[in-house]
This record gives sequence, structure tokens and C-alpha cells, in this order.
Amino acid sequence: MRIVVIGGTGFIGRRLIPLLAARGDSVTCMDINPAAGAAFAVLGERVRVLRGDVTQFDEVMTVVSEAKPDRLINLAYHIGSDLPPRVATKLNVLGMDNCFEAARLCGVPHTIYASSLAVSGPQRHFGERAVTEEDRCYGDSQYAVNKIFNEFQARDYAEKYGMTITGIRPANVTGPDKLFGSVDHVHCITEPARGNPVTFPYRDAMRIPIHVDDIAEVFARVSAVEKPRHRIYNSGGTTISLGELAEMVRGFLPEARIQFEQDTGGRERSGNYLIDNSRLVEEFGVQYAPFRRRVLQIINDVRAERGAPPIRGD
Ligand SMILES: NC(=O)c1ccc[n+]([C@@H]2O[C@H](COP(=O)([O-])OP(=O)(O)OC[C@H]3O[C@@H](n4cnc5c(N)ncnc54)[C@H](O)[C@@H]3O)[C@@H](O)[C@H]2O)c1
Repeated sequence: MRIVVIGGTGFIGRRLIPLLAARGDSVTCMDINPAAGAAFAVLGERVRVLRGDVTQFDEVMTVVSEAKPDRLINLAYHIGSDLPPRVATKLNVLGMDNCFEAARLCGVPHTIYASSLAVSGPQRHFGERAVTEEDRCYGDSQYAVNKIFNEFQARDYAEKYGMTITGIRPANVTGPDKLFGSVDHVHCITEPARGNPVTFPYRDAMRIPIHVDDIAEVFARVSAVEKPRHRIYNSGGTTISLGELAEMVRGFLPEARIQFEQDTGGRERSGNYLIDNSRLVEEFGVQYAPFRRRVLQIINDVRAERGAPPIRGD
């Protein structure tokens, strides 16, 4: 298959593109930061990296019309709610429209984009039950509302033009090189692995991490099919408090210095942390590695960067 990945040199794209190349796809990666795709050189001619700006329709159209892809995947985004409104709208909303419109004009059979768990908003709106894709969205940050609107854009294109466009709502993606978005659960692992102390406001703050290798696999599987059964899929992940995560880290690094300012008060402030991903599991057969193993993997990735030997798990 031919696949165009926009925003492909980022945190998730760096894991996704090697998976696509390994299954034999020819990948055109367009990113405003193509230098970060230097690691794709080992993948040979299967992966081409181009500089391009998703906010510029001509640039998206040029890449998509030349590549004639079977799949278009859009990962280009700003993770956070700190942008001036016009800049956020241009990248997150117009950028998404540029992808959908180019896919329409070029007849791309299936377009895939990243939504987010952020659309659902705080868990307190749902009580202690798992949030499904059909639940009302309560997210009200710039990022969440942009994602909610992206889901509407996808539906509008699908209904008006009969296109297949699939949104994936990743949970709190984790990995040693994560820089943007929710990072407390990342720092709870990476800072002790670097020998640094770390302090968080609430021991009972809840997260639902999913390792970046697992979310890359989700995008790969969804992109393998031409017409998924649903328009939106929750990735799900492992529900855990930062306090529990700290204990898991201490199991591997007994000397880890992880502190909390308060034991309680975080749970009610947490985003959604109970997520039903049965759609994804039933249709695509995804199975995530035990989270404990992923924590050890991250610790050992950080240790490898520092030239330290790996810690052995059980
Ligand atoms: N990482 C997470 O925890 C998480 C969770 C939920 C949803 N998501 C979503 O998944 C997608 C990918 O996330 P990520 O973690 O890989 O993010 P990232 O920021 O690491 O990657 C985004 C990529 O988009 C590129 N980009 C930015 N502006 C661009 C532009 N104008 N034109 C072309 N490329 C541009 C960046 O250079 C970067 O390579 C995003 O839509 C994000 O909102 C991520």
C-alpha cells in the first residue's frame, strides 16, 4: 500500500512509520520538521521524508496528488492549549480540513487522524464508569475543543462525500522521548531513571497511559483496513494513579525519589481515566503489553541513553 503520513516525524509517527515500512507499505512522510525523520534512512526507499506545512493546502495537495496514497494519516498537531486562537485554528482545524479536502479531491480510500481522550473531559462527568465513544464530550480546553471539532469535520466529510475517515482517540501516550501533552506520568518514570528527584501535586491523580509502541500499532492496524466498522475508536490504556505508578517504578528502582505534595485531591481533578476500548479490541484484536513491562522498557531506554546496563524484570 502507499501511505502518506503528515506529521510523521513526531513522537507517534517515529514509531508508526517503521511499522508501516516493515509490513511492506511505501510511505511518504510530510512534516514541517523533516530533520527529525533522519532515523528513517535505515528503512531505505520504502520511506520518503518531505518538508511540508499542513496549514498550506497547496503543499498538502501536492504531496497527496503525487503520492496517490491508499491511506492518508494526519498526526500534525499542537498538543496543548497555549496557542493564540488563530494559530491553533490554522494548524489543528484548517490543517485537518486540508487533509480531508486533499483526500477527497485525490480519492483516497481511507483517511485516519488522531483525536484524543481529551474530548471526553474530566472523569467526574461520568462517575466511576468507563467512557465509550458514544458518550457526550465535555472537554473544554482549546486542544479538546479542536479535537471535538475535528471529529465533526470527519463526520461532515464522510456524510457529504461518502468518504471513509477514522479517528483514533489515544489515551495518555507514554514513552521516554515524549515532550508534549500529559507528561507527569512520563516524568514519574524517566526522572527517577535519570537519578533525579521528582515531585507531583497529587498522589491520587489518575492517568490512563498507553505505551507509544502500542498506539503506533493501533494506527498501523486501523490503516491496514479499507473500511473500519466505526468512525471513532478509543485506544484505552492502563488506569493507574501516579502514586501506584511511583510504587511500580520503585519496584525497579528502589532508590527512586518520587514525592507528592498531597495524598488526595487529584482524583476529582483528573481527566477521563476509565475508558472502554472494546470496539478497538474486538475489531482489530489489539492487546497491549502489561504496563509494568512497559515501565521497565522506558526505564531501560533512559538507562541505555546514559550508558547504564539494563535492569532485569521478572
Ligand atoms: N502524545 C499523546 O499523548 C497524544 C494523546 C492523544 C492524542 N494525540 C494526538 O496524536 C497526534 C500525534 O501526536 P504526537 O505525540 O506524535 O505529537 P508530536 O507533537 O510529537 O508530533 C506532531 C508532528 O506534527 C508536526 N507538525 C507540527 N506542525 C506542523 C505543520 N504545520 N505541518 C506539518 N507538520 C507539522 C511536528 O513537527 C511533529 O512531527 C496528535 O494529533 C496528537 O494530538 C497524542
